[in-house]
Amino acid sequence: MAFVRNNLPRVQLALRWVRVNDINPFEWTTSAPIIDPSELGDNQVLIKNHAVSLNPVDYKMATTNFSNTKLPAVTGYDVSGEIVAIGNGVKDFKINDEVFGFLNLNTSNGGGALQQYSVGEIETLIKKPKEISHTDAATLGVAFVTAMDGLRQVDINSSKSIFIPGGSGGVGHFSVQIAQIRGAKQVITSASKDEGIKILKEHYKIKDVINHAKENIIDRVKELTNGEGVDIVYDTTYLESSFEKTMKTVKEGGTWVVLRRFGSDTSKERKILDERKVKLVLADLGRYWLGNERAQLEKFAQNTLLQGAKWIEEGKLKPYINQIIKLEEAQNALELIKQGKGGFGKIVIKLL
Ligand SMILES: NC(=O)c1ccc[n+]([C@@H]2O[C@H](COP(=O)([O-])OP(=O)(O)OC[C@H]3O[C@@H](n4cnc5c(N)ncnc54)[C@H](OP(=O)(O)O)[C@@H]3O)[C@@H](O)[C@H]2O)c1
Repeated sequence: MAFVRNNLPRVQLALRWVRVNDINPFEWTTSAPIIDPSELGDNQVLIKNHAVSLNPVDYKMATTNFSNTKLPAVTGYDVSGEIVAIGNGVKDFKINDEVFGFLNLNTSNGGGALQQYSVGEIETLIKKPKEISHTDAATLGVAFVTAMDGLRQVDINSSKSIFIPGGSGGVGHFSVQIAQIRGAKQVITSASKDEGIKILKEHYKIKDVINHAKENIIDRVKELTNGEGVDIVYDTTYLESSFEKTMKTVKEGGTWVVLRRFGSDTSKERKILDERKVKLVLADLGRYWLGNERAQLEKFAQNTLLQGAKWIEEGKLKPYINQIIKLEEAQNALELIKQGKGGFGKIVIKLL
C-alpha cells in the first residue's frame, strides 16, 4: 500500500498531450485525472508541483512521440515541488519532502510536468535545499543536466579556450557558467539577439560573444584565439546546419562535443573531424532512457542536481529566468520556444 497525504484531489489543471501532431498536440483542461496512488510504481512518487521549467523537448516530444508514450499524457520534464504520495519501494523520500529534478521521458504513468501533480521516479529527483527557491530549482533539470553531461567529458583545466555556440539558450547559458566555474581560461560563445548578447556580456561577464547571425564564426573564433582555433567546442544548438561551421572552429587535435546522437561514420561531418584529428564527444540525455545506459542515470542525475543546487547556494551559478508564467500560459510559451522567441535562458511556470 502506497503512503498518501490526506485529502488529495481527484482532478487537476493540465495541458494534456492528446495527439501526436505538429500544429496542435495539446488540449487545456481543468479536470485531468490525478493518478490513484495505488498505481504508483515501486520507484515512483507523486509530486505536487510548485514550479516547472520549459524545454524545447516538451513540444518536440508532442510532435514526434519518440518515447512511445501512451496518450493521453502530459509532456514537460523539469519539476520542483513536494511529495504527496510514495510508491511501495521508496525508502529515501517521505510525504511532504520538498524535491526537484526531472521526469522520465516516457510519462505514460501520470508523469509530465505540465500539470499540478506529476509522477516522478526517484532516480532523477533529490531533496531541495531550503536555501534555494522552487523557481530556481525547477531550472536545474534537462538543460542543466545536459550542460553538465557535455562538460564532464572534457578537460577544461588543461585547455586554453572553449567555444560554446548557443550561449543564450537554456543549455548554453548553463554551459558558459559551468565552464567559468570549472576555471576555463577563455570562454567564447554566440547568440543573435541584442538582449542576449548584452546579458552574456554584462550579467555573465563573457567578453567574447559572437553574433552568429551577422558574423562568420570560424573567422571570429580564429581572431579571438591568435589564429589557432579553440581546444574545445560544446555545440549546444542541436542544429545540424551549424555543425560544419562549429567543427571548423576547433584546433587540430582538439575536442568537439555535440548535443545529439551523431550520424554515421561515413557522414560529411565525421570526415571533417577525422581530417582535423578532432575528438568527438556526445552529450545526450535521451540515451539514458532510450539507449542502454539506464543503470548509470541515478548516480549521474542525483550528483549533478546536488552540484547545481550547491553552486546556486554558493552564488556561483545563476539560472536566468526570463519569464515566470501560469500553467494556463504554457502552450503559448512552448509556441514561442518553437519559433526561437523563448527569450534568454529559461521560462518557468509557477503553480504555487
Ligand atoms: N538530446 C538531448 O539530450 C537534449 C537535451 C537538451 C536539449 N536538447 C536540444 O538542444 C537544443 C538546445 O536546447 P535549449 O534548451 O538550450 O534550447 P533554447 O533555450 O531554445 O536555445 C536555443 C539556442 O540556439 C541558438 N540558435 C538558434 N539558431 C541558431 C543558429 N542558426 N546558429 C547558432 N545558434 C542558434 C539560440 O540563440 P539565439 O536565440 O541567440 O539566436 C539559442 O541560444 C534544443 O534543440 C533542444 O531540444 C537536446
